Amino acid sequence: MHSDDGVPSGAHLRVLVTGGAGYVGSACLRALLKAGHEAWALDDLSAGNAAAVPDGRLFEGDVRECAWMTGLMQRLRVNAVIHAAALASVPESLENPGGYWSVNLDGTRAVLEAMTAAGAARLVMSSTAAVYRSGLTAPIREDDPLDPETPYGASKLAAELAARDHARRHGLQVMALRYFNAAGADADGLHGEARAHETHVIPLLLDTALGRRPIFEVFGTRWPTPDGACVRDYVSITDLARAHRLALTAPAPAPFTACNLGAGAGVSVLELVDAVRAITGRSVSVREAAPRPGDPAVLVADISRAHAVLGWRPGHSALPDILASAWAWRRSHPNGYDAPAPAGTGAS
Ligand SMILES: NC(=O)c1ccc[n+]([C@@H]2O[C@H](COP(=O)([O-])OP(=O)(O)OC[C@H]3O[C@@H](n4cnc5c(N)ncnc54)[C@H](O)[C@@H]3O)[C@@H](O)[C@H]2O)c1
Repeated sequence: MHSDDGVPSGAHLRVLVTGGAGYVGSACLRALLKAGHEAWALDDLSAGNAAAVPDGRLFEGDVRECAWMTGLMQRLRVNAVIHAAALASVPESLENPGGYWSVNLDGTRAVLEAMTAAGAARLVMSSTAAVYRSGLTAPIREDDPLDPETPYGASKLAAELAARDHARRHGLQVMALRYFNAAGADADGLHGEARAHETHVIPLLLDTALGRRPIFEVFGTRWPTPDGACVRDYVSITDLARAHRLALTAPAPAPFTACNLGAGAGVSVLELVDAVRAITGRSVSVREAAPRPGDPAVLVADISRAHAVLGWRPGHSALPDILASAWAWRRSHPNGYDAPAPAGTGAS
């Protein structure tokens, strides 16, 4: 039997979502609850928002605390884990590599140990396009060379390898989902991207359209791309959440399987600026800035394996859909979860 979005509805899942108060993790959590499964968030709230998690579903703590996590998984009788907790900013990882290795690798190892001790058999882990070698020809396939440029990408690849090794030795099933650029907001307009220190391109552009930032910086305009700007692949969090639900129940072809998740199409930063102007009807001032270290020119996913393994295809990742949902969220919540915009302000 399948639910209306094609996900098998037979299995009853009890899922702990690490990083479940974060942008992607909370979207996965809400999708699981909506589909009738049991799900809880584990998050230290270093970057997440308690308000993104339905009442009574949040356990506050550090993903590196293995004994505490084991007890929690046992108490909740968890049979699967989505591991999204991580430090997740490329520029920040260049300044603080040690923190990235600690949370992203040690945290993953603690999750693996806790799952084995608690008898949870299926892990779906957040991975990233940053694990691939820079400069690969698009679209990027899962068997392309893995050779991360940054501490962020290296720590995420190390986490994948730790999970692969653990899966082979302890009988766990692991799906590593390598997202390209997660984007957009929930269709109900109640949840979206909200970070204290924002570095992601779409929220920065929308804040410029709202007049909350004076200018948007384009990092490099002489890349080897048709218009000289970086090209990225944006996938909606609605599609990501559905891929996680599928990955929790799909027959696993091997103890460890990695799948790219993207729209399978590239958008340049300058095309994105134009699309934001069109969707918002507002002006967006732009200035060129130096290219950032660790930024590849083009990142576009080959998503055929996600279709073959998970039966997944994006359905909500057309750029206008992503931007419309992100704009609705940003306009109604310019301060994130802290304070929705009062009616009649410039933000509404
Ligand atoms: N957003 C993207 O475009 C993108 C792309 C590729 C991969 N990813 C991966 O997806 C996952 C989620 O990313 P996101 O964009 O939702 O980021 P996010 O910062 O919104 O979510 C990460 C969550 O992890 C929590 N966290 C951090 N350290 C923790 C710790 N030690 N213990 C417990 N919780 C901790 C944070 O509080 C936060 O809620 C990450 O693993 C990231 O590497 C994200």
